[in-house]
Amino acid sequence: MQVDVLLGLQWGDEGKGKIVDVLASQYQIVARFQGGPNAGHTLVINGKKFVLHTIPSGIFREHLINLIGNGVVLDPTTLEKEIAQLTTAGVSVLDRLLLSRKAHLILPTHRYLDAASESAKGSSKIGSTLKGIGPTYMDKTGRNGIRTGDIHLSGFDQRYAALKKKHLHLISLYPEIEFNLEEEEERWMASLDALRQIPQVDGEYYLHDALLAGKRVLAEGAQGSLLDIDFGTYPFVTSSNTITAGVCTGLGIAPQRIGEVYGVTKAYCTRVGSGPFPTELHDESGEFLRKAGHEFGSTTGRPRRCGWVDLPLLKYSIMLNGVTQLVVTKIDVMNAMAEIQAAVAYRYDGKRHTNVPYDLNLISVDPELHSFAGWEQDLADCQTYDDLPAPCQSFLRYLEEFLHVPVTMVSTGPERESLIERKVTTLTA
Ligand code: GDP
Ligand code: IMO
Ligand code: MG
Repeated sequence: MQVDVLLGLQWGDEGKGKIVDVLASQYQIVARFQGGPNAGHTLVINGKKFVLHTIPSGIFREHLINLIGNGVVLDPTTLEKEIAQLTTAGVSVLDRLLLSRKAHLILPTHRYLDAASESAKGSSKIGSTLKGIGPTYMDKTGRNGIRTGDIHLSGFDQRYAALKKKHLHLISLYPEIEFNLEEEEERWMASLDALRQIPQVDGEYYLHDALLAGKRVLAEGAQGSLLDIDFGTYPFVTSSNTITAGVCTGLGIAPQRIGEVYGVTKAYCTRVGSGPFPTELHDESGEFLRKAGHEFGSTTGRPRRCGWVDLPLLKYSIMLNGVTQLVVTKIDVMNAMAEIQAAVAYRYDGKRHTNVPYDLNLISVDPELHSFAGWEQDLADCQTYDDLPAPCQSFLRYLEEFLHVPVTMVSTGPERESLIERKVTTLTA
């Protein structure tokens, strides 16, 4: 069997959680492969909203195992809170959740360092979620990290103390910030008890055996391709590989085992935090998208920056990920717009370009926009693709033809049920 992948093609918050929850009914295992509690994946089930940060979005499906892979960085306090919320809502978690032993732990001092480093950056700050993601991945690649499996080993306390000491030294190099370490540490230590209840596995063997046994596996991405540490809008990125390649290292999956790649994009574009955003709107259209789309961060509550969909960037993400199916979400947010737009090229240096430049931070690009007629109607009654109004279908057809990937799902609302699935024969490149 192959591992199918679902990931975001923009700067995160594309609606990945909702789509994973829907697709999960076709899989036996859903696995997160990177990122950590910087993610906020929203699911709306029977009118109730849940935001998952660490737990994979297959958790609402009874038959399914949810694996937190080795590529994830894990904060036990967030995980404990998530488990408690789900349990209160009647969702059985502990019999559906597995942890890879090799997933690295986020310590309270990782969060402290994240906050001190961001604060010191002043106006050039990344806009991090301050969940300790960067410092934890730094310790992983710097070979200082502590892994989930280590909590069961003797010597854990000494390793924790040594790493904390190192962090405190680093923190002392930054200007002072407010952080109640004692309180945070107490909570963190208490949550280790909850962590010890969760079964741990060698994720790479677990998945290998599952695939041999014919089980279907879906890898769930966090963040988006434009936040990828290598290919995103560096340095305004996260600290992991958010693209398909991250599935191989973040779960222990060989490249030839990758099957379908579902790429999720909003019908427009958002970004939370700092960094370039060529199609950002600072006018009433941007304000309209933010209001109609409830564009406020699921993790931090910050307002998301809004703009038109950017096709050169989407094409770049599709190329990096090997996307085989395009999922377009939040199309309903544009229902009331008389006209919508999409960037089809950039102008800079006096020329027209369709490739993404080396550094979008240094070059001010002028996006060339293509206009589409809006559909100015509600989509709630559209059950099939053919039910979608003609201008909406024209917009989607334009995306397919530009990007050379078939649109196989169109999401028309936050709920599970608001999804139009479509069988398409592969488009010719
Ligand atoms: P994720 O991080 O990619 O899982 O996305 P988030 O959950 O952070 O943000 C997506 C937001 O849009 C959430 O509030 C979802 O409930 C909501 N959402 C998802 N799909 C749709 C859709 O098709 N239409 C509308 N209106 N909202 C959606
Ligand atoms: P999901 O999975 C949107 C952004 C932050 C910041 C940058 C670095 O919900 O799509 P970090 O905390 O990783 O150091 O922040 O990345 N960011 C996200 N933006 N959705 C996310 O996750 C994000 N995770 C991180 O806002 O700009
Ligand atoms: Mg999100």
